Amino acid sequence: MDFQRQTNKRLYEEHVATLQLLARVERVFSGRAGAYPPAAGDAEWPPFARALVSAIEVEVARHFEFEERDLFPRLDEAGDGDLAALLQEEHATIRTVAEPLADLLRQTLDAGLAPQQWQTLKTLALEFSERLGSHAQKEDGALLPVLEQLLDEDTDRELFGAYAAG
Ligand SMILES: [Fe+2]
Ligand SMILES: [Fe+2]
Repeated sequence: MDFQRQTNKRLYEEHVATLQLLARVERVFSGRAGAYPPAAGDAEWPPFARALVSAIEVEVARHFEFEERDLFPRLDEAGDGDLAALLQEEHATIRTVAEPLADLLRQTLDAGLAPQQWQTLKTLALEFSERLGSHAQKEDGALLPVLEQLLDEDTDRELFGAYAAG
């Protein structure tokens, strides 16, 4: 997708990266990337689990907070309150899955999991993937085109600058 506004370009790139990560999540948890649950001592599991925890708690959290703080209120003011409310609600649902998912992932690196918990982890991971994937695609199709009209050049520069600076 081709966007003029830097903010939209960045969000779109982050959605692409998210969808790539989720494709990997689906391969791992469906057992297509190797045995699931991983064997004790599997060398690939710890870096994967750590990367997924970090994606959930750092990248996704930061992206969500930016949209909620700087974009959804603008959408609301411009008369697209229904879309803003829907996307906000999806964030809340995704967070309720992401929190126990991150907890269990951390536990795999620490005390380990009982067989039943590996099953719970798989269910959470696949639900997280499905919900976040469809959310990102919905934003690509509905949020970004609206923002493209909404953000003027100065606002875009200001928002993008603040976001990029972290
Ligand atoms: Fe979002
Ligand atoms: Fe997003």
